[in-house]
Amino acid sequence: MNECEVNKVRGTHLFTANETEADRKCFLEKFNLLPFIFHHKLSNDPRFELDAIRNLALRLPQKFFFSGDVGVAKGWTQTGARSSSFEDALNKLAEGGSWIILKKVHEDAQYGTLLSQGLSELEELVHRRLEPVIESRTMSLILSSPGQSTPYHIDGDCNFLCQVRGDKTLFVFDGRDRSVLSEVEEENFWAGDLSAAKYREENQRSAWSFEMKPGIGVHVPVIFPHWVKNGPAISISLSINFRFLSYMRADIHRANRLIRKMGLSPRPVGKSKVIDSLKGKAFFGVQMFAHKLRKLRTRA
Ligand SMILES: [Fe+2]
Repeated sequence: MNECEVNKVRGTHLFTANETEADRKCFLEKFNLLPFIFHHKLSNDPRFELDAIRNLALRLPQKFFFSGDVGVAKGWTQTGARSSSFEDALNKLAEGGSWIILKKVHEDAQYGTLLSQGLSELEELVHRRLEPVIESRTMSLILSSPGQSTPYHIDGDCNFLCQVRGDKTLFVFDGRDRSVLSEVEEENFWAGDLSAAKYREENQRSAWSFEMKPGIGVHVPVIFPHWVKNGPAISISLSINFRFLSYMRADIHRANRLIRKMGLSPRPVGKSKVIDSLKGKAFFGVQMFAHKLRKLRTRA
């Protein structure tokens, strides 16, 4: 990319391409509470041309891929669907059946500024500092074949999914509704089961449906289940993720899982702030104690 192109991109806003009042209102009122559409200009950015992405993929150490028709309802456990090699999946992208994720794109010198730019714009849009409460942040590129699906799942990060090339439909489900995401499913997720959220056909009609095309982005709050169906062309999306200091919420669920394993019925998260706080602190304390014990044993 030449200097002129770099400056052109630097001069753009990442989250508010159209500078619309509607976008600003959504960020302010719905951020991490409800999903919403926003606008961006990344589709005009030469860094997201297919050739530039191919070169980036060769530089990046972390990339994952599937080949084959991954179903919506089986989560990430579709082990039979792995391709022979990453290059194979990349070359067959247009043919169909490939799903590729390039992890930690922000660690590449040419793309890194986008993540910090995204965070500072987000802070402006939500009228508060977020940096002090962010545990981790990351940026991934998702490349998928025409007609490909991304399985139903939940994430521990909030997501700003920016559609760069091709079209797709993103279905988002209400993660606060326990008939959609049960207490036990959420507990299992925070305990490490990435496929813990179970797809139920009967919830499909109450899901939000977002038609994504280049220039359109969708915000998905933490643990709101979602799945994706691609249109007739190759789809490229940039996923910008922020994980807030949610260890308290995660630890309350982990504590509830332990209580359930002991044969008891834990009080659901959110019913009592005092009990939630005690459980979270107790679980965090036990983890810290176990961590220190392991360190002492290693030294001994
Ligand atoms: Fe996701």
